Amino acid sequence: MKALVLSGGKGTRLRPLTYTIAKQLVPVANKPILGYVIDHIRDAGIKELGVIISPETGNEVKRYIDGGRKWGMRVSFIPQAEPLGLAHAVNTARDFLGNDDFVMYLGDNLLSRGVKDALKKFTRDRAQALIFLKEVADPKQFGVAKLDDRGHILRLIEKPKRPPSNLALVGVYVFSKEIHKAIARIKPSFRGELEITDAIQELIDMGYRVTSETLDGWWLDTGKKDSILEANTVVLDEYVQREIKGSVDASSRLTGRVTVEKGAVIRNSIIRGPAIVGKETEIANSFIGPFTSIGDSVTILDSVIEHSVILNNAFLSGIERLEDSLVGKNTRVIRESARHKALRLMVGDDSTIEV
Ligand code: TTP
Repeated sequence: MKALVLSGGKGTRLRPLTYTIAKQLVPVANKPILGYVIDHIRDAGIKELGVIISPETGNEVKRYIDGGRKWGMRVSFIPQAEPLGLAHAVNTARDFLGNDDFVMYLGDNLLSRGVKDALKKFTRDRAQALIFLKEVADPKQFGVAKLDDRGHILRLIEKPKRPPSNLALVGVYVFSKEIHKAIARIKPSFRGELEITDAIQELIDMGYRVTSETLDGWWLDTGKKDSILEANTVVLDEYVQREIKGSVDASSRLTGRVTVEKGAVIRNSIIRGPAIVGKETEIANSFIGPFTSIGDSVTILDSVIEHSVILNNAFLSGIERLEDSLVGKNTRVIRESARHKALRLMVGDDSTIEV
């Protein structure tokens, strides 16, 4: 069994963050989404990983994975010149995949639990494909599956007007080599992409068995349905531990599950977990509320911050109350005086500011 992670694409929906970072590398609880994805693949016992990369962000994805050493995996990087669809990505990886079974994971999707059990089910059911499903409230916006009573797939329908179920397709799939035959038979969709749902439907029409696994835990799709803030909340809630590696002075108080990384300095401040403070970050005379992730080398002075994500090297000072916010890398947010009525901004493209 091999793994194929799709880490190409354009990431237009996550702008402005994706002007300077691949969307799969956007941090959730201070760790790139792609890191959680590769953890799951390693935990399933897979040793060989192929990663689809784009010309725009391929180098930074390569740099992050760093040859796969930290996961003990062999990694091949597979450039895809243009994002022409998920099935096109599989075609692009044809040489890497050979005739092996493989799990395909979209690099911007996160599941609460890994893929280990589903791989067992794939083998047990002697299926040619397994798809992951999740119950959703609004199936009209997703690819939706119609199942028989054994959980085998009868039909897949993209954004159905009358959904046959509330089971949406999640961005993780397991395939045998038959998927390549099915992809060879499909045509690009109206949006010009080779769609993996069309290829799976083709497998079913060819008489092959497609089985499913319905998730009972959470599923986050940071590229599409969930914001980074929502993902941050869910992941902090699930993963963060109380772990203090930095320095905290006697007039500060940390309550609940708070991680303070090495080199961080907390002075005269309160931090309520779940929250994480990155390496070399300085927090002074401030209150950090629950569900906040603060990156590395950030400075926060005289501020109140809650339910927010602050990326590396940001500088915040005198902010009376910041909530539900995402602050990008190297950003400065400064309030010089409460009497000052005018706003002075230097904001990058595609930003949102609510005052
Ligand atoms: P999408 O979110 O469907 O595509 P995108 O990254 O182009 O996003 P946007 O529409 O916001 O511009 O892709 C899902 C995942 O698959 C994502 O991690 C990118 C990856 N992908 C590829 O690697 N190759 C492809 O051809 C496509 C379409 C996506």
